[in-house]
Amino acid sequence: MQGSGPRQSMLEIRQLTKRFGQSKAVDDLSLALREGEVVGLLGPNGAGKSTLIKCIVGLLRPTQGEIRLGGYARGTREARRLSAYVPEIPQLYGMLTVWEHLQFIAGAYEVSGWEGRAEELLSLFEIWERRDDFVKGLSKGMRQKLSLCCGVLTDAPFLLFDEPMVGLDPRAIKNLKDLIQSLKERGKTLFISTHLLDPIENICNRVIVLKQGRILADGSLEELRRRLGEEQASLEEVFLEVTADV
Ligand SMILES: Nc1ncnc2c1ncn2[C@@H]1O[C@H](COP(=O)(O)OP(=O)(O)OP(=O)(O)O)[C@@H](O)[C@H]1O
Ligand SMILES: [Mg+2]
Repeated sequence: MQGSGPRQSMLEIRQLTKRFGQSKAVDDLSLALREGEVVGLLGPNGAGKSTLIKCIVGLLRPTQGEIRLGGYARGTREARRLSAYVPEIPQLYGMLTVWEHLQFIAGAYEVSGWEGRAEELLSLFEIWERRDDFVKGLSKGMRQKLSLCCGVLTDAPFLLFDEPMVGLDPRAIKNLKDLIQSLKERGKTLFISTHLLDPIENICNRVIVLKQGRILADGSLEELRRRLGEEQASLEEVFLEVTADV
């Protein structure tokens, strides 16, 4: 898919608002992603990152606005099949084993020939030896690793990660970076919310900064640097500048 003509639209959001009571977690937000884009979603705590992601994957119902994935309306079977989601907090069943989880996901998403891929992913995150252990006995970081394995196993074209680095040790962060790089090379569309800026700085080809449910900045790191007039700025410096006093 890479390098072959114009990319198709993967995500189209028009004037999305999500309210919780009187407060707006997402405020009249419009956004489009093309196939193969790797987007870092940044923003301070409470900016609306998780709410936006949950609206996209169909876990929250928008108050207003329209969301389409690959041209299909949010929440439809077709739209759901296009995306996979790694939540902020792992949603796992304590009474299933690590391997049973992957088996369950493979069944639910009708992934065939998944066993080799599952072994590869568990080995990458060094939890292959724990495959027959119950999830309730796993450490926090191990749960996060399993949650990542479940999300990636589906081989969906559009992957949304909500703070995927949280709880991971340095080696696992490095392995996750390599995994994200290989997903990028395979032409996947990636939407990654994170507070850890270093690991994504060289992977994302687009950065979106959210605050109070609105987009403050959207562009490549180079574009955002130019906008600030600071050619050498790190992503951290760009983030701090963009989100200051708004
Ligand atoms: N279920 C809910 N009920 C009420 N308010 C909510 C709910 N979920 C989120 N909010 C509010 O919506 C706003 C955005 O929250 P959200 O979790 O999307 O932020 P975030 O950018 O993901 O933050 P963080 O970086 O802390 O994960 C916050 O003000 C939060 O309190
Ligand atoms: Mg969040």
